[in-house]
Amino acid sequence: MLGVYLSGLKSFISERFGADVWESSVPETLENQVQYGKPGSTFDFELFSILTPVAEQVDVPVSELLKMFGRYIFPRLLDFMPEAREQDMSFRSFMISVDRVVHKDVQRLYPDVRVPKIEFIQQANKLTMFYRSERKLCYLAEGLIIGAADFFQEQIELRHLMCMHHGADYCEIEIIIQ
Ligand code: HEM
Repeated sequence: MLGVYLSGLKSFISERFGADVWESSVPETLENQVQYGKPGSTFDFELFSILTPVAEQVDVPVSELLKMFGRYIFPRLLDFMPEAREQDMSFRSFMISVDRVVHKDVQRLYPDVRVPKIEFIQQANKLTMFYRSERKLCYLAEGLIIGAADFFQEQIELRHLMCMHHGADYCEIEIIIQ
């Protein structure tokens, strides 16, 4: 499953903005990695440094591109988790299983991969998510959450209350379930 983020990034950029944008933005070494499906963590490369030239070309901020990409990639990630489609899982039960089940399994299968630390406080109409990762990919996390809401057909609203990009030690994202 490693590589799904990278090949997904190529199709996301090519489909949304054109193959020429991908070709002119990514370094050759990365393109080789996509083509030959080289194993290794997808985030060995720097997602921010790939998306920065794309953002300049298409005039969309990197934070927004990461969100769009998270939403786009979510159904592809679920292909590795058929039980989410088969079982009677809700948006809420899926979300709270991401850290203790999904990412834990990822870590067991691929010990070298680093996944973020995600914790929740649960309340009746909302989940408060605490995200910690040295990669600071909280915008990607937001997009993945929106992708999960699309999949489970849940109406949600996100509020990014605290952010590592603004000096906080962790991100706090409130997910209001309508
Ligand atoms: C809404 C649900 C999810 C959220 C919020 C989430 C969040 C994230 C984020 C933000 C990262 C980037 C690394 C970092 O921040 O340090 C990541 C990595 C990863 N996630 Fe998730 N994730 C979700 C669901 C899933 C699912 C369903 C799968 C697959 C079954 C998955 C598998 C992975 C893998 C394999 C990586 C590491 C990729 C690599 O290093 O190559 N995640 N996750």
